[in-house]
Amino acid sequence: MFEKPFFVILTNRCNLTCAHCYNELDPFKIIKTKVSDPLSRPRLQFLFQELVKQKYQRGYFSGGEALLRPDAPEILGDARTAGLKVSLFTNGHLFTEEMVNRLTSARLDEVRISLNELAWIKDRRQYELVFERQTRWVPALIKAGIAVGVIYLISRLNIEYVMETLDAVRSMGAGIKVQPLYMPPHEPHADVGARHIAANEWEHLINQVQSMVAATDFAAEADLQVYNNPWKILRYVRFVRDVYVGDHRPDFCPTGPILVLDSDGYFHPCLFRFDLVAGHISDDDTVRTLASRISCHEDLRTAPCFREECLSAYR
Ligand SMILES: C[S@@+](CC[C@H](N)C(=O)[O-])C[C@H]1O[C@@H](n2cnc3c(N)ncnc32)[C@H](O)[C@@H]1O
Ligand code: SF4
Repeated sequence: MFEKPFFVILTNRCNLTCAHCYNELDPFKIIKTKVSDPLSRPRLQFLFQELVKQKYQRGYFSGGEALLRPDAPEILGDARTAGLKVSLFTNGHLFTEEMVNRLTSARLDEVRISLNELAWIKDRRQYELVFERQTRWVPALIKAGIAVGVIYLISRLNIEYVMETLDAVRSMGAGIKVQPLYMPPHEPHADVGARHIAANEWEHLINQVQSMVAATDFAAEADLQVYNNPWKILRYVRFVRDVYVGDHRPDFCPTGPILVLDSDGYFHPCLFRFDLVAGHISDDDTVRTLASRISCHEDLRTAPCFREECLSAYR
């Protein structure tokens, strides 16, 4: 069943400086504050209560690195208490035993760990080191009852490791989502981006995923609670290949409008259009009317603005 979701950027601060980070590439994001976290916990509690009344069901909490906020686990717990399902996007570097315990106490539903560094690896040794480090906490999270999904950014440097990562992650009981690495043409190292993957490499990957789908026991897939369908991966990789190789574009926005709250308190109707604003969290009236402010955002409902970075949000 489709869940009505919303996004909260808890902080724009981060402990990493990924060369590909949207937050650094988007001119509307780089002017946002990265030194403080203006969203107050009481105001977020009010927001969660109002969103439940407006039939929102799941909150995706992201950043920057959301776990840098000292009270992040407790905020996630507030969202659960309000009656929402809660997912956390993280780079996975701040997990400790104490952090896993706090996330468990918060009754977090799922964690999505991004394998950001894997997009930049140079050889197998680096692949193994990074993969081992980034998935070290997966068993503890699953044992604590938190579903885990891993995000694999496909780049020109790591496309050959996609299939073994799919297998390894799934054998841990976690799910996986693949998404292309977006690098704007003017950036240094733009040639690492997915745009520079050759047509035959996409074809090879598609054939491999196709074999995986053919061998999948879909009855057992329900155990992988996040990103649990290899057939969807196949469909998605084909779509990405068509965009890059055939220059295809959907003729309307397939993801938006979606409610996004940035850490400076502004609501936006899209994950990538921070130029469009739907009000501020300090205004009670805005918070009480969010669903209609977002769904009626005509700029996005019929927007022909599907851009390369949107590929990572679209499923
Ligand atoms: C901006 S990060 C914030 C959450 C957290 N810091 C993390 O890295 O997971 C949200 C997601 O966007 C992805 N991302 C950021 N820049 C990207 C890019 N240029 N291309 C593809 N995915 C990107 C990250 O890998 C992550 O999955
Ligand atoms: S960890 Fe996430 S937010 Fe931080 S720089 Fe990397 S992609 Fe951006």
